[in-house]
Amino acid sequence: MQKGYPLLEIYNSNSDERISWCTPSISMRVPRVRGIYENDISVSYHKLGNLALNNGIFRKAHRLAAKAYKADHTLFVVNGSTGSNFIILRALKRQFGDSLKILAQRNVHKSFCVACEDYRINVSYLSPEYDDNFQIFLPNKIKDILDAVKSEQPDVLFITNPTYEGFSLDLKNLIIKVREVKKDIIVYIDEAWGGHFGFSSKLPESAMEAGADICVQSSHKQASALQQTSMIHWKDGEIDNKILLDSFKSLTTTSPSYHLLASLDASRFFMENYGFNEIERLINLSELFKEELNKVVGISIWSPERILNKFKEYITSLDKTKVIIHLNGFSGIGLAHILEKKYGIVVEKYDSKNIFLIMTYGNYVPEAMKTIEAIKEIAESKKKIIKDNNFPKFPKAVKTQIQSYEIMYKKQKSVSLENAIGEVVAEDVVPYPPGIPLLIKGEVFLKEHLDYLTAIRSMNGKVTVLMQDKKLIKIKVIK
Ligand SMILES: Cc1ncc(COP(=O)(O)O)c(C=O)c1O
Repeated sequence: MQKGYPLLEIYNSNSDERISWCTPSISMRVPRVRGIYENDISVSYHKLGNLALNNGIFRKAHRLAAKAYKADHTLFVVNGSTGSNFIILRALKRQFGDSLKILAQRNVHKSFCVACEDYRINVSYLSPEYDDNFQIFLPNKIKDILDAVKSEQPDVLFITNPTYEGFSLDLKNLIIKVREVKKDIIVYIDEAWGGHFGFSSKLPESAMEAGADICVQSSHKQASALQQTSMIHWKDGEIDNKILLDSFKSLTTTSPSYHLLASLDASRFFMENYGFNEIERLINLSELFKEELNKVVGISIWSPERILNKFKEYITSLDKTKVIIHLNGFSGIGLAHILEKKYGIVVEKYDSKNIFLIMTYGNYVPEAMKTIEAIKEIAESKKKIIKDNNFPKFPKAVKTQIQSYEIMYKKQKSVSLENAIGEVVAEDVVPYPPGIPLLIKGEVFLKEHLDYLTAIRSMNGKVTVLMQDKKLIKIKVIK
């Protein structure tokens, strides 16, 4: 018999002392799912109905959620927005057939790329907008999106809104204008980071309120549900309901966790009843970070106003429950590592110049003050030892040569990064977080990619890049 259960052990020993400024953002006030072991219910228990068939108690919970999220229909998904994107893209492929064409922003989550590859969907990407100082993707300009819709005439426009860091387009305006260009276009929003938007006037407008046809939300990210949960919301009109429900039925596990599903129901109740006040509280918490840390030498908080001012051409609103702490002269990577190791404080994301915090429903003023004090202490005592890393610039150039689904039929070879310049890549390369691909299969490997990956490689694992060669030495290209 083998000894021990390492995952369980680490999981059980790892909860009390941690302060998390990252997902999942779950409130301890959400109505609780009962004992995990005692109440693990089988689908054979017919009283509840069947999730995949959208009947029984599930239909009732879906309807309540649709009302709360201002949709005509909602479905609960237990494989995150990753699963939701697969369900929708499978349905769209069946609705439009082989002629399906999607126009997408380039800051897509990898689930979108992989699903498009698997379902053999033609995608054209807009060139990314990227800010080197923040080291983040920004939304594309509305004009650029409209120009692309005009020239490409896609069946579907896919927009990630908000971006990971909470930047949001004027969606309502965009959708009106896009429909003036192409009346029957399907506007599909990846709103993974906006599950809380519909519950406060101080946040950007939600996709459903803005008039989108369909969206996905990761409810575990900021809508106070358990990890792995997601919702699909959609409006009657352009989406073929029958095909979408069939896709949901086909891709939903036949043994979904009722704990997760009940947590989705409870999170809807929580957001409807307490969301407004809770979001207000989180915005105040982010103000506290701003007030306290702006006084520290070498630290400035990128306030929403400054961000909106700088990028007003692109962005109209911002999720103020997020805080980007910008550092001058010392490294975000180093700061984040010490915060976690010495103080048990976990941040959502870091890079050489910034750390990024999500104000979560589980945190209050005491946790914020502890974190602020820890950051001050590190800034005062350790600045010299956590010197600014020379973080490479993210390559903005994108050159798509062939659709990703064509790659599997091509002969492939593995070459060193240095020898890959000009070649068409046969694997996705994904820095994580945030999970937005640096390279998607079918794109051309450029000198900028080499510089970026070489610099990341020299950081010895401090930044994770998902690719086949974990050492970042070789890459697969087509022959
Ligand atoms: C924009 C976007 N879409 C989809 C996903 C996938 O979400 P999930 O983790 O719920 O599967 C993510 C995850 O980070 C994301 O950032």
